[in-house]
Amino acid sequence: MMIFLDSADLKEIEELAATGLVDGVTTNPSLVAASGMSFSELITKITKLVEGPVSAEVTALDAKGMIAQGRKLAKIAENVTVKVPLTVEGLKACKALSAEDIMVNVTLCFSLNQAILAAKAGATFVSPFVGRLDDCGADGMQLIEDIAKVYETYAFDTLILAASIRHPQHVYEAAKIGVDVVTIPGKVFRQLYTHPLTDLGLDAFMKDWKKSGLEI
Ligand code: E4P
Repeated sequence: MMIFLDSADLKEIEELAATGLVDGVTTNPSLVAASGMSFSELITKITKLVEGPVSAEVTALDAKGMIAQGRKLAKIAENVTVKVPLTVEGLKACKALSAEDIMVNVTLCFSLNQAILAAKAGATFVSPFVGRLDDCGADGMQLIEDIAKVYETYAFDTLILAASIRHPQHVYEAAKIGVDVVTIPGKVFRQLYTHPLTDLGLDAFMKDWKKSGLEI
């Protein structure tokens, strides 16, 4: 399972990429706007911090505009993945960009039928939004499970990128389903390795070791 960071915060990406456990990064227009940096400068810097795919989202709403923006973004670095919304225009852009061997992440996916169309359009990744579905009383993880089953049935190559992940339990459930990628905020990344029993146990081991006077 790959773990991407869902962040446009350079300091946070640098800090967590240093663990060697970050396989890629996803950004979206809201995260980029909050960074206060120029888009191309930000994406250039992120692509240097992580070797894996870095999603950069188009803002045009028509296929022609998305394709032009996508080509421009893909020129920034080899690991740029062009992110397009799951609209009919986004699907057309996905098909065109994928045909040019540009990685495409189709985002804002909220249904199985949308995910099937993303796969048929040649998407490298499809991003179902788990948390936002949960927020409106639906079962976000059920959608991940359904997509995984249907993609397996038809042997689609598109990777499932579970997005809008809000807490470690989402990661746990997505991993059990066998999702290809989870993209998680820095806070959730830190929660994955933090456990109070680990801290308590280490503290006790260190106290006993200190008392013993032993050395390695
Ligand atoms: C990632 O690609 C998405 O843009 C992101 O996961 C959305 O998360 P949110 O629903 O917490 O904003």
